[in-house]
Amino acid sequence: MTEPVNVTVTGAAGQIGYALLFRIAAGEMLGADTPVRLRLLEIPQAVAAAEGTAMELDDCAFPTLAGVEIFDDPVKAFDGVDVALLVGARPRGAGMERADLLEANGGIFGPQGRAINEGAASGVRVLVVGNPANTNALIAASNAPDVPATRFTAMTRLDHNRALSQVAAKSGTAVANIKKLTIWGNHSASQYPDLFHAEVGSRPGAELAADRAWLTDDFIPTVAKRGAAIIQARGASSAASAANAAIAHVRDWTLGTPEGDWTSAGLWSSGEYGVPEGLVSSFPVTSDGSGEWKIVEGLEIDEFSRGRIDASVAELSEERDAVRSLGLI
Ligand code: NAI
Repeated sequence: MTEPVNVTVTGAAGQIGYALLFRIAAGEMLGADTPVRLRLLEIPQAVAAAEGTAMELDDCAFPTLAGVEIFDDPVKAFDGVDVALLVGARPRGAGMERADLLEANGGIFGPQGRAINEGAASGVRVLVVGNPANTNALIAASNAPDVPATRFTAMTRLDHNRALSQVAAKSGTAVANIKKLTIWGNHSASQYPDLFHAEVGSRPGAELAADRAWLTDDFIPTVAKRGAAIIQARGASSAASAANAAIAHVRDWTLGTPEGDWTSAGLWSSGEYGVPEGLVSSFPVTSDGSGEWKIVEGLEIDEFSRGRIDASVAELSEERDAVRSLGLI
């Protein structure tokens, strides 16, 4: 067997952590031939709960699990890390203003970015799940000047999967036969799920999108507000589907996306599609398994899509300006 890969998961005692860790340990994220060493980071009050999860991980006796360690110090948790899943974040409390939320998360993702900068392995890959994911990724990347900014990504794969499932239901096409959907912008209600370049079985996605009433009043808001609908129904936010998306994001990044398809991920912009440089925004992306996402270029963006993308990117610019004025980046 090869040398174990060090995977650090923050917020390990939370509900996504509980849905995520067992699948990583079982080899679903990096492959059944790749042993993983799990390093769980929690706040001190939640370390005991993380220890309970670690006991359960032991009790699964996964052949791919090379060990579990628990930390409450990011510097130690990220020392030598190859893959970092930043799940733990500060949720919006009652009466909390957006600036307070951004500041509280800056207090988490700034130090974590610095710890990654200091101790991570040279090929480190980072996925930010904790919300506001795009701006938290921006904060972490900005605090890690020695790590290429493109190694910090934000999760929009759950939105991508939600869009796939909505299109499958509408068109009667199997998910496996729907390709080239894109989530653009922020992982928030302003995100834009784009059907115009999709392939839905043998039909172009633009054919479905021609039903503008369905597109604007049903498809786009259903995808964008799915998280809220799940909280309403379940009494708790999406956890298993979020964990599933995190696994798919890292798996595709590491092992490659399928030929003839792409997926969506929040990536550091170099100005692609008019997204200002240095924002972490969702794009259509491919990976050949060599460790870098590649933004799909050259797609034609019509006026309808342009307006939606610009609106979501404007929100990202506002968030960036807010964290900049708080001195977090
Ligand atoms: P949760 O509240 O069940 O768990 C969060 C865990 O993070 C807690 O155990 C907490 O102790 C820990 N934590 C807080 N601060 C920490 C720090 N500084 N270092 C290490 N751990 C810390 O929340 P859940 O449901 O697991 O969600 C986690 C995050 O993921 C939330 O921000 C949620 O909004 C976000 N999310 C993002 C999605 C996406 O598509 N990008 C989808 C679903 C959730």
